[in-house]
Amino acid sequence: MSPGVGPDRYVLFGHPVSHSWSPFIHGLFARQFDHLIDYKLRDVPPAEFRRAMLDFFMEGGAGANVTLPHKPAAAEVVNELSARAERAQAVNTIIRRSATVLVGDNTDGVGLVTDLMRNQRIAITGMRLLILGAGGAVRGVLAPLLEQEPRQICIANRTPERALRLQQEFADLGEVSASGFAAVDDRPWDLVINATAASLAGEVPALPPRVVGTGTFCYDMAYGRGDTVFMRWATARGATRACKGWGMLVEQAAESYLLWRGVRPETRPVLDALERL
Ligand code: ATR
Repeated sequence: MSPGVGPDRYVLFGHPVSHSWSPFIHGLFARQFDHLIDYKLRDVPPAEFRRAMLDFFMEGGAGANVTLPHKPAAAEVVNELSARAERAQAVNTIIRRSATVLVGDNTDGVGLVTDLMRNQRIAITGMRLLILGAGGAVRGVLAPLLEQEPRQICIANRTPERALRLQQEFADLGEVSASGFAAVDDRPWDLVINATAASLAGEVPALPPRVVGTGTFCYDMAYGRGDTVFMRWATARGATRACKGWGMLVEQAAESYLLWRGVRPETRPVLDALERL
């Protein structure tokens, strides 16, 4: 904070955005360092996103997060993209490099991988990994997952063509296959990640009966209070563990904080605080 100027200002752009936990999470991060920050939610419809974002930075904003549906648009508006944002074609973090240069980055993938490896203690290397969905959320996490060298990633989607497009786009990074739900290899997978919007409708994709076994870890990128539909589905099929995307949310936020302020907050106390809520 500069003397007399007030706290550094950050916002999350989204539509809708009122459900977000990000102000709470970043508020706890800031307390760890005695930083004074002001993190607010900004609900802007797609047609107004570009103007609102540029105005925010023109008026001295220090940094921004971006969530649905603006992540691809943010990648178009910034002046520079990190390599991982370029791969994802989506930006969730905007950094002000100078008065005239805004840099777009994407911390979603590293957030997921950090949660899986550090918090859930999963070794992705050598695993058979099934990803459900082929939308923006999957595009954002494929490269960081493949970097860990799983044995295989299968992308399964309701619309198989979208899975196939991602497969073609990421095949240079590892062993990737694509499929519709019904055609998924009917043997237990090591890790099943749900990245579909099906849970919003209270549904779980119709998969063959044996994709989840006692050794399967199931991860739902969605989160909310209590267990998600996908977690309950996984547990009912005997999954060894099932968890929701709280950890990914907190870890991607910590990476954003690092990009903005040069220090990475401790995430464990924040995860504990979320659990207690
Ligand atoms: P996101 O950025 O969250 O990934 P998206 O790009 O709209 O959002 O992608 C949503 C994903 O959820 C897609 O994989 C979508 O499948 P389609 O590509 O076939 O549309 C999937 N999805 C949405 N509703 C679903 C449902 N009821 N059952 C299964 N998959 C669903």
